[in-house]
Amino acid sequence: MAKKYEAGFIGAGNMGGALALAAAKQVGGDRVAVACSTRERSEAAAQRLGCTAETPQRILSDSRFVFLGVKPQMVVGVVEGLKADILASEGIFVSMLAGVSLEKLALLLGADKKILRIMPNTPCAVGQGLIVYAANERVSEDELCAFRTLMSHAGALDALSEQLIDAASAVFGCGPAYAYLMVEALADGGVKNGLPRARAQRYAAQMLLGSAEMVLRSGKHPGALKDEVCSPGGSTIAGVAALERGGFRSACIAAVDAAVEKTKQLG
Ligand SMILES: NC(=O)c1ccc[n+]([C@@H]2O[C@H](COP(=O)([O-])OP(=O)(O)OC[C@H]3O[C@@H](n4cnc5c(N)ncnc54)[C@H](OP(=O)(O)O)[C@@H]3O)[C@@H](O)[C@H]2O)c1
Repeated sequence: MAKKYEAGFIGAGNMGGALALAAAKQVGGDRVAVACSTRERSEAAAQRLGCTAETPQRILSDSRFVFLGVKPQMVVGVVEGLKADILASEGIFVSMLAGVSLEKLALLLGADKKILRIMPNTPCAVGQGLIVYAANERVSEDELCAFRTLMSHAGALDALSEQLIDAASAVFGCGPAYAYLMVEALADGGVKNGLPRARAQRYAAQMLLGSAEMVLRSGKHPGALKDEVCSPGGSTIAGVAALERGGFRSACIAAVDAAVEKTKQLG
């Protein structure tokens, strides 16, 4: 029999909330339930996201897909408190917990459970995110298809072998923070040179959006696209040289290394 909710979220903060928004766009807010740490917090999240507030227990009994959106450090305590309800749940569990493997999830939730491990990013809230996913062998192709449909308003989806999820997460899950730093820093440079702050920020953000679209649509190597912007002896190559003096590329690589390292500790 069809469940009351197509998707239920245990934890609907920055990331769970973004995915709840995407799910509600697909199936309607009355078919998406959210639970936070208290009833009041759940009501507030439900109002903010246009979904329905529920208890974690009702989410486990009444949802087809049960999303786990709590912090990795909290999951053991949360699962412990819901042991009997998890045991009885027929839901397909969808974990967005950074660094927590399918093997560990099966130990926590039960070896008989259908489990999807996903890595999303917060731009899913505006339909421009990315979700990579790996499922255990109990999840059927039809269920994966239903999951992709449920999340279709979040952005792009990509099946990925589980051992690559931590590296992917360090690039695009954490990546929005790196991009926001760049927007802020470029806007600072604009302001330093006389641009009003709001304009500088809008121009920097629009530039990142368009440049990303160029990489995705043209299929060209980013280095070739960079060369197209740099005229000989021009101002852009002067800017590129300044970024290289500041160690821009090695700082980006080190950011991904550091995030992978930290993610391993979370699991
Ligand atoms: N943020 C990202 O960009 C990002 C990207 C990829 C993956 N993730 C993963 O997403 C997960 C959530 O991260 P986040 O950044 O969204 O954290 P967050 O904003 O702090 O949200 C955590 C959520 O968990 C809820 N919660 C805490 N204790 C609970 C309980 N006992 N029962 C039910 N809900 C409870 C919180 O409710 P209250 O509001 O009431 O405290 C809140 O809604 C993490 O596992 C993280 O690894 C995050």
